[in-house]
Amino acid sequence: MRLGLARRSLSMFPPILTRAYSVQPISRTSISPPPASLKPQTPLFLRPPTHSATISDLLKWQKWAKTLASSVGSHFTHLDDGPDTTLLHRELNWLLQDALENPKLPLSHVGTNEVVKLRAEMEDLYVLWKQRIEERRPFQYVVGCEHWRDLVLSVEEGVLIPRPETELIVDLVGGLVKENEELREGLWADLGTGSGALAIGIARILGPFGSVIATDLSPVAVAVASYNVQRYNLQDKIEIKLGSWFEPLKNVKGQFVGLVSNPPYIPSNHIRGLQAEVAKHEPRLALDGGSNGMDDLLHLCHGASSMLKRGGFFAFETNGEKQCKFLVDYMQKECDGSFCDVDIVSDFAGNKRFVTGFSGP
Ligand SMILES: C[S@@+](CC[C@H](N)C(=O)[O-])C[C@H]1O[C@@H](n2cnc3c(N)ncnc32)[C@H](O)[C@@H]1O
Repeated sequence: MRLGLARRSLSMFPPILTRAYSVQPISRTSISPPPASLKPQTPLFLRPPTHSATISDLLKWQKWAKTLASSVGSHFTHLDDGPDTTLLHRELNWLLQDALENPKLPLSHVGTNEVVKLRAEMEDLYVLWKQRIEERRPFQYVVGCEHWRDLVLSVEEGVLIPRPETELIVDLVGGLVKENEELREGLWADLGTGSGALAIGIARILGPFGSVIATDLSPVAVAVASYNVQRYNLQDKIEIKLGSWFEPLKNVKGQFVGLVSNPPYIPSNHIRGLQAEVAKHEPRLALDGGSNGMDDLLHLCHGASSMLKRGGFFAFETNGEKQCKFLVDYMQKECDGSFCDVDIVSDFAGNKRFVTGFSGP
């Protein structure tokens, strides 16, 4: 997880195209349902266009919102590496696209008295944009989704917004399963699944017999991950379990061919200094890795060998080079030869980010 948030810019797919082919209707519910009180929000672009506004009212809102974004300049960037006006203007366009029934409508070519259909009330658009600028509410929570790989994942407060660098874990798994039938058709675990990003990404590249169990300690994450799994119609391939790390997996100990995790790894006293979008709004449970950020990584490392079949693969995301080296050293010296081919893998930006390897000598 990077410490800052940007959005959609890294997506290879224009938002509208991605949505058109990838989003499935919500169907069966074979996953144990989260408590009814935790009903996940529907992302803005999937809400029914039951509201309307005149073009003139919409343009008035757009002008107001643009002026508010312009007043930020590079203030947030200087403060905590937050978004500048250019990024906020881009987000404003994305918000408008998500809110319009017909996002391709060229507003400037339509008469100002024409009425358009919207997925939110005009007043809500004012509230949402004020939250974005004045409260630094992450854009992804404002619109209720994040574009990640070829997916559009529902997110909301209480669930980490998946980061682009985590996508590489799916690519690593993809490369392995292409060559290895046992890995392709076996059982995988995504520990601390959040929005379900890794579990869904991996389930989509496994063969027809492979499956994933995803766990999280956060009931909100379990509810949102379940919602995303259903949207992609993967409820027969992914099981979501509430609980701490390996605890919900006791009955399948030693049966996994692969185990991935992007655990909390930020040192506790670094959290306050992060971008306000992250520090104020993203769940502490998803960020805080204890005094040096290693608490959960070391716990995962301890449990991994007994969960994996011999030859099973693991990939853990870390904060960077220092944590990678610490983990590799620990695995080699303290884990009684439980792992082999332990390696450090860099992310797209060239930062040492992941520790990977296999169980057994
Ligand atoms: C950094 S987030 C990663 C979320 C998701 N995998 C992703 O990459 O977007 C870490 C996740 O671990 C979960 N978590 C924290 N402590 C946990 C625990 N003891 N057991 C299981 N999950 C935990 C958090 O709720 C959060 O969803």
